[in-house]
Amino acid sequence: MQEVRVTPSGAFDNHARSYRHIVARPLAAAMGAEIQGVDVRSLSDEAFAEVQDALWHHKMIYFRDQPLSHAEHEAFSLRWGPFGTDAYTAGVPDHPDVQPVIKEADKRTKALFGGSWHTDSAFLARPPSVSTLYSVEIPPYGGDTAWANTVLAYNMLSPTMQAMLAPLRVHMSAQVNFATQQRLEGKAIPFASDEKKTQAFDGSFHPLVRTHPHSGEKALFVDESYAVGIEGMTSAEAAPLLAFLSAHIIQHAFTCRLRWEPGMLVLWDNRICLHHASNDYDGYRRELYRTTVQGETPA
Ligand code: SIN
Repeated sequence: MQEVRVTPSGAFDNHARSYRHIVARPLAAAMGAEIQGVDVRSLSDEAFAEVQDALWHHKMIYFRDQPLSHAEHEAFSLRWGPFGTDAYTAGVPDHPDVQPVIKEADKRTKALFGGSWHTDSAFLARPPSVSTLYSVEIPPYGGDTAWANTVLAYNMLSPTMQAMLAPLRVHMSAQVNFATQQRLEGKAIPFASDEKKTQAFDGSFHPLVRTHPHSGEKALFVDESYAVGIEGMTSAEAAPLLAFLSAHIIQHAFTCRLRWEPGMLVLWDNRICLHHASNDYDGYRRELYRTTVQGETPA
């Protein structure tokens, strides 16, 4: 007999560490923290090392009241490593690595950019390690972003399920996401070039359970947007497993949700969380700018 599915418990650990240069204020039990006490334009190396530690620990961090130009946004992103490649945009004028994420007040869409649970550009051979998003204009309600902690989701699986998943490789491709957008809107969010589209459709095979290169934590590398198959399995075999894992990861208990304000800078560790933009602010403008940092080959 199948048991009732109850709220998971016993593995929440989003406590704030004690730092010398920054203060971390946890956002939710699962993940996320506000970082206080710093201007990201003038972080010392010691303070930056603490911010890095906070990101690996909380998975998503945010700073309020950061008045950033595109050049300053770029400069802060580059402290984490070289820019990643973006499949969808060519950036803003003079800043090709600063990607606009803008929805105008009069735009109505069923397929919002980022509007399904995903990890950024998982179809790349080296998906981004860290993504940053900076807010300029925010609707009076709605437009929140939610994140899900895929380390916590992995830790809350049974040892038997963890052992079964350990050798599997997931096929990440943009093909199903593209087809969904086409069905909903008549056209999909365009790729920056045909070459990027082919690369994104072919996709990559990655470990379904990946290990964080700094913390050593294991995380599920599965989402409902790009995970389209499992190496060596038929689609009939892979689909129910991917559907279960996608639903498992995004349950309420493993998530946090941010109410944006203008001038916020958010960073997330793209290796160990999923995120989701809300499509619930028709009639209002939302303007943000994103950068991504080149990641390693997932292992
Ligand atoms: C994204 O998926 O990177 C965009 C998230 C958002 O607009 O909140």
